[in-house]
Amino acid sequence: MELDIKKIKDQALKEIEGIKNSEEWEQIKNKYFSRKSGELAKLLKDLKDVSEDLRPKVGALANQVKTEIESALDIKLSSLKNNGSALERDFIDVTLNVEKYKLGHLHPVTQIAMELEDIFKSMGFMILDGPELESDYYNFEALNIPTWHPARDTQDTFYIDAKDKLLLRTHTSPVQVRAMQKYGAPLRCVVPGRVFRNEATDASHEHTFYQLEGLMIDKDISITNLIAVMKELLSGIFKEEVNVRLRPGYFPFVEPAFELDIQCLICGGKGCPVCKQSGWVELMPCGLVHPSVLKYGGIDPKKYSGFAFGLGLTRLVMMKYKIDDIRLLQGGDLRFLNQF
Ligand code: DAH
Repeated sequence: MELDIKKIKDQALKEIEGIKNSEEWEQIKNKYFSRKSGELAKLLKDLKDVSEDLRPKVGALANQVKTEIESALDIKLSSLKNNGSALERDFIDVTLNVEKYKLGHLHPVTQIAMELEDIFKSMGFMILDGPELESDYYNFEALNIPTWHPARDTQDTFYIDAKDKLLLRTHTSPVQVRAMQKYGAPLRCVVPGRVFRNEATDASHEHTFYQLEGLMIDKDISITNLIAVMKELLSGIFKEEVNVRLRPGYFPFVEPAFELDIQCLICGGKGCPVCKQSGWVELMPCGLVHPSVLKYGGIDPKKYSGFAFGLGLTRLVMMKYKIDDIRLLQGGDLRFLNQF
């Protein structure tokens, strides 16, 4: 009996070695492992005729041979797959009809942010990021807005932690001071990002929206530099003639401060809910960086000056695509988003 088992093993291994293709492999596999007529099945049947004292030893041998033949077959199969024709090798059937996946695309705000980043990169600006969960210090204090300042009332937010004075940033301006502290002067950077306000929503107000902060600091920076950069930016984005106006504004962190408005592209200046019936939309408040803010950033205001702006990115997207309700942008409605 033991001799028979060894014979089967030698014969099987020899045959397996000679296999040339998957049909032959299948045949040999059946020859040994077929449940009814396979050589190994026969062997196990014969096992019951073996005397009881020998049975465990012979049984163990039979099992060992079975495993050896199995693994020889496995090895052969993988070598057939690696060496076989492309058809045997490839497990992907390119002709198979599969359901098409729907590919997503970038949100319109992301698309415009990326366009803006390209424009600013071409003018030598860095693209920076800052925390959305911001400290009271960077969001207000270091921007010349102390606790008692009435300007805080215009930017109510969600206070997260009273002890550590953490809040959801109301604007991207805190990154101005962070950037100054990190990079010093001269400095050119823009900061696209998400900001938050605690306010009632309507066609032109949202609790979550996007801004793009800009900052340029160098020797002898003046309003002329500011206007030149703004012109470049507006023509790059709108690619059509837009009417703009510059008027005095107020923000504690710039002096003098301006509001750059564009004529409402949704109503053409006639008045609508988006422009609050005024015909103009505040797009880009800006100004020359206040000396105190430069100091907070560790920059000497006697040596350097700079300009800053806070472009309303969400508003810009609304103007560019003539979207008449800001809430659509955060609403996640695919009927809306699929149009971009
Ligand atoms: N951070 C201001 C806001 O969200 C906008 C702003 C105004 C940014 C003037 C600036 C600036 O950089 O110079 O209301």
